[in-house]
Amino acid sequence: MNKTLRKLWLGDLGALRAHLKRLDPEARRLRFGGVTTDDFIDAYVDTAFRLDATIFGVFIDGEIRASAELRGIFGGMAPDAEAAFAVEGDWQDQGLGSELMDRILTTAQNRGVTRLHMICLTENARMRHIAGKFGARLSFAQGEVAGEVTPAGPTPMSLLDEFVHDAQGFVTAVFDWRR
Ligand SMILES: CC(C)(COP(=O)(O)OP(=O)(O)OC[C@H]1O[C@@H](n2cnc3c(N)ncnc32)[C@H](O)[C@@H]1OP(=O)(O)O)[C@@H](O)C(=O)NCCC(=O)NCCS
Repeated sequence: MNKTLRKLWLGDLGALRAHLKRLDPEARRLRFGGVTTDDFIDAYVDTAFRLDATIFGVFIDGEIRASAELRGIFGGMAPDAEAAFAVEGDWQDQGLGSELMDRILTTAQNRGVTRLHMICLTENARMRHIAGKFGARLSFAQGEVAGEVTPAGPTPMSLLDEFVHDAQGFVTAVFDWRR
């Protein structure tokens, strides 16, 4: 099995679209809230990189099977940003969501984000468990849980960590495209 976790670029839009459309109705509801049609996913992916977002994907044997998005809110990235995650059903409970959370937190830290918001439904025990594992403070309102993590400020190590992962991701992406 060939597995790569890296930032997505415009050339990955088709793979991101296919990944999100493979989510079953329950995963779509938990990720986007409400009924999520293929048309909604198309519209969402069309704007994905226009709105100040950093998106990561986990490629397994060339297909994206899990993704996470970091997006600025209140008009910019810092100090508040929002994170959202999606792992395809057959790939859940194998640590991909936690790996993505780790990368999102480093990226948020390097952008000077001091409050990272995650909104998930109260019944989403998996997401609540992961948020708790990474030290999120959770507050409950109207069937949704808002998780708030406070990343530390950027450090030389966190900047190096992102740089090294980006460099590896670039090599892998070029390799994937040429294949
Ligand atoms: C939530 C989601 C992102 C988690 O990703 P994942 O790859 O399955 O998560 P991981 O495998 O990294 O971790 C799952 C953790 O939850 C735990 N878990 C699984 N089922 C659980 C349950 N019913 N109650 C509590 N914890 C549970 C696992 O034991 C594991 O914990 P551990 O790492 O301490 O062993 C993924 O399941 C998903 O995409 N769900 C649908 C969409 C969604 O809910 N998105 C989040 C909204 S932003």
